[in-house]
Amino acid sequence: MALVESRFIRGGVPGDWSDLPVFSDDGETFEAAISIEDGTSLYGTGEIAGPLLRNGAVTETWTEQPYREDPPPDLFALEYDDQLPNLYQAHPWVLAVRADGSSFGVLADTTYRTEIDLRNGIGFSAPAPFPVIVIQGASPQEVLIKLSELTGTIELPPLWALGYQQARWSYVPATRVAEIADEFRARSIPCDVLWVDIDYMDGFRIFTFDETLFPDPAGLNAYLHDNGFKSVWILDPGVKAEPEYFVYDEGLLGDHFIREPGGDLFVAGSWPGDSVWPDYTSPETRQWWQSYLDELLGNGVDGIWIDLNEPSIVAPPTELFPEDLVHRGGGDLTPGTHARYHNVYGLLMSQATHEGMKIARPDRRPFLLSRSNYIGGQRYAAMWTGDNSASWNHLYWSVTMTLNMGLSGQPFAGPDIGGFWRAPSPELYAHWIGVGAFFPFSRTHTMQLSPDQEPWSYGPEVEALSRLAIERRYRLLPYIYTLFREASVNGLPVWRPVFFADPADVRLRGEDHAFLIGNDVLVLPDLMQTDSHPFEAPSGIWREFTLVGEDLEQMPELPVLKIRGGAIVPLGRVVQSTAQALLEPLTLLVSLDADGRAHGVLYEDDGEGYEYLARDYLLTTYTAERVGQTVEVQIGGAEGERERPDRTVEVVVVTDGGSFRGAGPETGTITVSLE
Ligand code: GLC
Repeated sequence: MALVESRFIRGGVPGDWSDLPVFSDDGETFEAAISIEDGTSLYGTGEIAGPLLRNGAVTETWTEQPYREDPPPDLFALEYDDQLPNLYQAHPWVLAVRADGSSFGVLADTTYRTEIDLRNGIGFSAPAPFPVIVIQGASPQEVLIKLSELTGTIELPPLWALGYQQARWSYVPATRVAEIADEFRARSIPCDVLWVDIDYMDGFRIFTFDETLFPDPAGLNAYLHDNGFKSVWILDPGVKAEPEYFVYDEGLLGDHFIREPGGDLFVAGSWPGDSVWPDYTSPETRQWWQSYLDELLGNGVDGIWIDLNEPSIVAPPTELFPEDLVHRGGGDLTPGTHARYHNVYGLLMSQATHEGMKIARPDRRPFLLSRSNYIGGQRYAAMWTGDNSASWNHLYWSVTMTLNMGLSGQPFAGPDIGGFWRAPSPELYAHWIGVGAFFPFSRTHTMQLSPDQEPWSYGPEVEALSRLAIERRYRLLPYIYTLFREASVNGLPVWRPVFFADPADVRLRGEDHAFLIGNDVLVLPDLMQTDSHPFEAPSGIWREFTLVGEDLEQMPELPVLKIRGGAIVPLGRVVQSTAQALLEPLTLLVSLDADGRAHGVLYEDDGEGYEYLARDYLLTTYTAERVGQTVEVQIGGAEGERERPDRTVEVVVVTDGGSFRGAGPETGTITVSLE
């Protein structure tokens, strides 16, 4: 029996510790098994395509870009599907929900390649001994909160990072980026962020700019800023192995690159050709990496996108990082092999970059997106689901993957809307942007040389639908921002599975075509090309509502939205980007419960800096109560020291018999007549 220790974290239930792991090994493979009661539903396991419910799945934590030597007939080598056991991220974590709604979570505390076998209970196996951490809770929500106490939460992102975003590989040259910006504004389609992919670099050398294609990056960013956009620029870890290229020379001088066991540099093919890779396990290397960020950000770059950090080799994609490569470690990390550090390469690169952004710009919240990461990596970076495909299956998986990322500690997630590989039909793009506008991270992106994939690329009908879809996000943004603030405090996801509405209702456990935003908004998208999906509805009162005019009547591709009885959801106005004031006016969408009451919360702050840590924020609870044939809405309590704007609040009470409106100063009682 290997020497392993386990930790137990007891939630609010009297536990009899029946979920103890049993360890075994044959000297080479180390296993931990936990039996589950009948009726237990399993979730989590991080970034894997497939249904929300993970019972019966066998997956593996090994961060990797998908590559198949023998792809199935309908796919090509770099496309992924639900048959692959591992993708770009690693989360050795399973969330279990028992038939009665009580819950536990199991974390295999190892960075090594780990198999997660959910065919018969929960089994983990890895090539080295590992402790197991079991978290007990009265509900799945409680278990996730306790997981975040162990592995951390996201940092509150800047508000602009929650706006709609537009990317492609690549908008090039710089004038094309500006043209896309102009097009969004000319067509009045809201958008906050434009993305700049690898072609801005000089020969794909990181921390350089191509002098012909991007002669004036600061000028481009200034233009974008003047028009209410932010920009995010990509960085890859591979450094061109080329004498006289400053990053290579300085990296060699500081001994910052990964070496082979014999001491030679490890060299392989990335975008710029032969490349070497920083060893982010070393604190000195992280510091060295950070030293380049100042200048990059100094060009007005707002956010950073880090890619290929599984780490992956581009040419040939069949080549893998040998597991005996040497990592130096330092600080808390002991020296170790690549087998040990592979899964956290993306996390350490994310940590280095996130911290570097804060050092370079201490008064701005970093926005960082990383393709690879490891459980806990939500502290440093948001994630996207990598190179997906323009297919109906991928539309569905984009929902289930985002939900399971949330159940694995990462709330800030989303796919390439419309798909990366291949080109979506107008119908597929319409359905995808309809639901896509609600992803925690909402960005359209596509591969090199594919047809245009902007909201206006599919003709006037899809353009009108896309505008409406994105306008719906902006109206909901105050609510979404409030949920991000909650996620940053307690680790609860922004998108939640439908069963969160009632974890003891086993009917809801497999419902993965619908989802909740927070607790109060139920989204029922149409993810299927043919037929329709029969939704399992949570019990209680759920009332349909609209956000932008009578949106649904004209646009059946847009998801139906429902508000929970008992909820107040704060809404903003439609803006072209968050550079414009969202809460002018603030609207409160009210849906009373069976007792005629409702309440809801709004978080607001500067949207960008760190003053909120010094209490410069407002967290307002609103309450509503039915009094005869009226509804009275008022502030029920507030936290924070930000000055309350002198504003009028609009109230919309959604009832089974239609909507009723009222308005009044925020600090008084607003009375809405139901007649
Ligand atoms: C990788 C990324 C993709 C990006 C491309 C070029 O495939 O996953 O998003 O566009 O590289 O940088």
